Amino acid sequence: MRVVESVAGLQAARRSRGADDCGLVPTMGALHEGHLSLVRRARAENSEAWVSIFVNPAQFDDPRDLKSYPGTLDADLGMLRGAGVDLVFLPREADIYPDGYRYRVTETELSLKFCGAGRPGHFEGVLTIVLKLLMLARPRRAYFGEKDFQQLRLVEGMTRAFFLDTEIVPCEPMRESDGLAMSSLNRLLEPPERERAPVLHRLLARSVTERQSTDAVAAELKRAGFAVEYIEDYNGRRLAAVRLGRVRLIDNVAHP
Ligand code: PAJ
Repeated sequence: MRVVESVAGLQAARRSRGADDCGLVPTMGALHEGHLSLVRRARAENSEAWVSIFVNPAQFDDPRDLKSYPGTLDADLGMLRGAGVDLVFLPREADIYPDGYRYRVTETELSLKFCGAGRPGHFEGVLTIVLKLLMLARPRRAYFGEKDFQQLRLVEGMTRAFFLDTEIVPCEPMRESDGLAMSSLNRLLEPPERERAPVLHRLLARSVTERQSTDAVAAELKRAGFAVEYIEDYNGRRLAAVRLGRVRLIDNVAHP
């Protein structure tokens, strides 16, 4: 597994790859089985699997969240090596933002709703870094989780808007055995919060089968001790974000 830390190094790897299919999995590290499910798919469907790890400051609206974001690089690299990844890209901020983030990708509708409403600039940061990674790696396919459903839809929209050649492959959310969607932030939950966390998915899933209104689920979530940021139906899904202590959890379920 090659570990590439510079933009120039990645460009060189891209040139020497030739026309071979490559699958890219962009991540912010603190890897778990959810990430690995994307990596395994990239491995199976392409001749090379590339992964990027970069905790992207531009997408954090609260500097405290950036500071507390878990970093587990050695373990991450071990997992990726075990999964048969060909190349890991670990860019440095100054190298990947040579313009100091003066140039950005802005989407003017969906990015302002749901997870974007309370986090100004969040999706601008996400789309900008994803565009940079796609331009540098030029993968045939890039893998994104449906767990971050709004992010997935925005990335798909961006690739269509800018005529990018990369196919965006949506991947199912991986869950713990109690239903909690896997997330790098779960490790920041205190034990009593971790115990309560699966209630989010349970109530969401039940609400769509029982055709409960979003208001009714919001009230139930509040009673269960969650601070509800939003719960909304969008694009055949019921999406929710809640806070549990200092951790923000998001999840979504398909709406029949
Ligand atoms: P990160 O949260 O590290 O997630 C990287 C990818 O893994 C995303 O596509 C996300 O949807 C997917 N993922 C996370 N949890 C998952 C789960 N439980 N099951 C399946 N897939 C899961 O999302 C980001 O990083 C960043 O915003 C990024 C796209 C890398 C841009 O900085």
